[in-house]
Amino acid sequence: MAPKITVIGSLNMDLTATSAKRPAAGETILGERFETFPGGKGANQAVAAARLGADVTMIGMIGQDPFGDELTQVLKREGIRTEHIGRADTSSGVAVIQVVDGDNSITVIPGANFQLKSAYIEAKRKIIEESDIVLIQLEIPLETVAAAAACCKEADIPYILNPAPAQSLPREIIDQAAYMTPNESEAAILFDDTDKALREYANKLVITKGEAGVIHSGGHVPAFPVQPVDTTGAGDTFNAALGLKLASGIPLDEACRYANAAAALQIGSHGAQAGMPTHEEVIAFMRQNGQNPL
Ligand code: RIB
Ligand code: NA
Repeated sequence: MAPKITVIGSLNMDLTATSAKRPAAGETILGERFETFPGGKGANQAVAAARLGADVTMIGMIGQDPFGDELTQVLKREGIRTEHIGRADTSSGVAVIQVVDGDNSITVIPGANFQLKSAYIEAKRKIIEESDIVLIQLEIPLETVAAAAACCKEADIPYILNPAPAQSLPREIIDQAAYMTPNESEAAILFDDTDKALREYANKLVITKGEAGVIHSGGHVPAFPVQPVDTTGAGDTFNAALGLKLASGIPLDEACRYANAAAALQIGSHGAQAGMPTHEEVIAFMRQNGQNPL
């Protein structure tokens, strides 16, 4: 049976500008393209998990605007359960994204995502209890993250905490997480000494390093060599793929290998959700690269 994944997190409309360079302060440059893409770390992780074959429920908050409708419709089309997405009396989350040479810089304006409150999560306790794994990021209020973490803990449901965007966290949220997936800069904000943290949080902490792959207490899992078109959503794809495999009982190292392959495929397309691969595509890609998927 497909693992049941619940995502508790953000939905954003991504306003993406691609240009040859990044403007300096006070500078105006001409860019190459502008597009709007559905995004938000929560919604992205939901889409990636659904494409890979998970049974996905999204818990989040949209605003009273057409972006909110579109963000929900997009998830519905992926077969994601959207009835637990609430609607707040404000604007939907938006991300202003600048892509230069395939690499992005992002400003998120949380809007409705910050109206996702602890009480809402507590009212959805049953959804959490019925999950195999929960995916949480940090584009919703920290107290909501804490409430979600507490619900998971009480129900004995593992959660992966993707601590993005970076901020320092109460120890409890880290301790309660089954897995934690910062990138290098997020890890540097969370821990004074990442080597020590890898030892202390053995089998929990997975640090993603982009083209250098990932590290965890058990070692290094190299990335697949690909030319990035747009890395927006690569981390989200990684987290969803990791969650799917871990929920299926696959060991951490193998799960990372699969998640690296999924992320490598994702960065070949513009936008966060567009290039997210199916399970079959990940398997085929791993074989092409001489790897034997579990
Ligand atoms: O992780 C990528 C996402 O971060 C984008 O889709 C954007 O919405 C920001 O939240
Ligand atoms: Na992309």
